[in-house]
Amino acid sequence: MKIINTIADIQHYVAAVKATGKRVAFVPTMGNLHKGHLSLVKQAKLLADVVIVSIYVNPLQFGADEDFDAYPRTMEQDCEQLIAYNTDVLYAAASDEIYPEGSEKHTHVSVDILDCMHCSNTRPAFFRGVATVVAKLFNIVRPDVAVFGEKDYQQLTIVKKMVSDMCIPVEVIGAPTVREKSGLAMSSRNNYLTDTERQHIAPAVYRTLLQAREAIVAGERDYQAVRARAFASLSEAGIKPDYFNVSHPLTLQPAEPDEKDLVILAAGYLGKARLIDNLYFSI
Ligand code: PAJ
Repeated sequence: MKIINTIADIQHYVAAVKATGKRVAFVPTMGNLHKGHLSLVKQAKLLADVVIVSIYVNPLQFGADEDFDAYPRTMEQDCEQLIAYNTDVLYAAASDEIYPEGSEKHTHVSVDILDCMHCSNTRPAFFRGVATVVAKLFNIVRPDVAVFGEKDYQQLTIVKKMVSDMCIPVEVIGAPTVREKSGLAMSSRNNYLTDTERQHIAPAVYRTLLQAREAIVAGERDYQAVRARAFASLSEAGIKPDYFNVSHPLTLQPAEPDEKDLVILAAGYLGKARLIDNLYFSI
């Protein structure tokens, strides 16, 4: 696996690969890789000849009171895993090249229409940070295709809309959420949980999503009542609910009762972690 740190070098590499007619797939990450990330690498391998993974802990997407400093940085283990999954290139972006004048002086990209609900309520600058860095990474790497996890459903929807609105020539593909046996969606932030929280409490998020889907499939159309019941079962399990929204899968707006395709987006707090998950389905 090649490790590239500079914009000039990655652009040179990609131009040379494309000149031979090969397709390039890209998987942006913040590192501390787990099986969820690696499933994206696997998916990327199926879509292109060359797979580039980036690792960059993006300061712009962390709020002032969030965990930028504490965010786990595990470059050595990450490299080992990427090599095991036949990654061609790791682009470990140098921070001073991404935001040469600091992140606040940089041009920002906002997808306002989707950045006013769900996670945006508690993390107001988060998606602006994500959209900005992803736009920049797309322009640096210029991949043919990029793979994102459906686990971060609002993020995936925002990236797709940004690419479409701004005519960025990349195909954005969503890959299914990888879960622990308990149903808990894998996440780097699960490392903040104690063993008991991780094994016995956190799986309640997915369980609650499945219960809500079951009720909706059985005919329930009062989505406020679905939310109220979900809040009660999350609280009972020991999770402080943030949101539990039955939504339209593209606009992310509250679903109408006659909507056939739905996504339920959920978030809650447990110990030092914020858990997010979602479930999409048709009725
Ligand atoms: P990060 O949290 O490292 O996630 C990188 C990618 O892995 C994202 O597309 C995310 O949705 C996906 N992912 C995480 N957990 C997953 C799981 N359990 N199953 C499937 N995919 C999973 O998301 C980010 O980084 C950043 O916001 C980024 C897009 C890199 C911009 O900085």
